[in-house]
Amino acid sequence: MRKLTVRILRAKPGQEKNAHFDEYCIEEKPRMSVLLVLDEIKETKDPSIYYESVCRSSICGSCAIKINGQPKLACKTQTSSLPDKITLEPLDVFPLIKDLAVDKSQFFEELNKKLETWVHRQKEFKNLDEKISEELASQLYESERCIECGICISACVAASCAKFMGASGCGKGLRFVLDPRNEDKEAIKKLISVLASDEGLWGCHGIGACEKFCPKEINLLKQLGKARIEVLKLIVKEWLKKPLKK
Ligand code: SF4
Ligand code: SF4
Ligand code: FES
Repeated sequence: MRKLTVRILRAKPGQEKNAHFDEYCIEEKPRMSVLLVLDEIKETKDPSIYYESVCRSSICGSCAIKINGQPKLACKTQTSSLPDKITLEPLDVFPLIKDLAVDKSQFFEELNKKLETWVHRQKEFKNLDEKISEELASQLYESERCIECGICISACVAASCAKFMGASGCGKGLRFVLDPRNEDKEAIKKLISVLASDEGLWGCHGIGACEKFCPKEINLLKQLGKARIEVLKLIVKEWLKKPLKK
């Protein structure tokens, strides 16, 4: 087994001048994840390092960090896929909590409020179960698979320098554009106005770093393309309804 040299960024918000890397050496173990590396350093060498994790199985998204410059889940990334020198930093874009932990909750809370990510009804449901086609159900499920890890946002140049909601946000928006049960016209208009802006789909440069790094392997570029088509269709439909000016 190799000896791993692990550099961890030590940082606190508002104290950027004091940010520095601490270096630790540990023995690599079979099937060792980067999260296990962090646990071992915390337990045996330095209890003060700060990072987050909950599920340890690529479900909660909390352990997302930059590993050798690339945004990844620490619990999913095996040391065997990395060189023996490993540098760990917090995700870009989000506000720092401490060391490797960032606050993603505010970003996703604001996003969900802005997009109103729930089904808006004008009519009462006739039955508790309203059937939709299998094809549509699988399209909706695709954006439901997002674990809000923030990796696509951190990887996205557009999101790092503007108020762009990222591929995850656009995917969430598409989910509610496509859902036929979301039939409140005013709510749809509001959703379209958010998506058809630089904060939404028009802010995407289409380069694809989001899809490259998404740990759930969601086809984000296809989703962004589909969202653009569906939003444009709705804009044209509204436009055609307007009476012609004399
Ligand atoms: S789309 Fe993928 S990378 Fe982006 S937040 Fe969701 S799971 Fe993470
Ligand atoms: S395609 Fe590029 S600009 Fe668009 S969301 Fe993905 S990373 Fe960001
Ligand atoms: S600890 Fe939950 S995704 Fe890594």
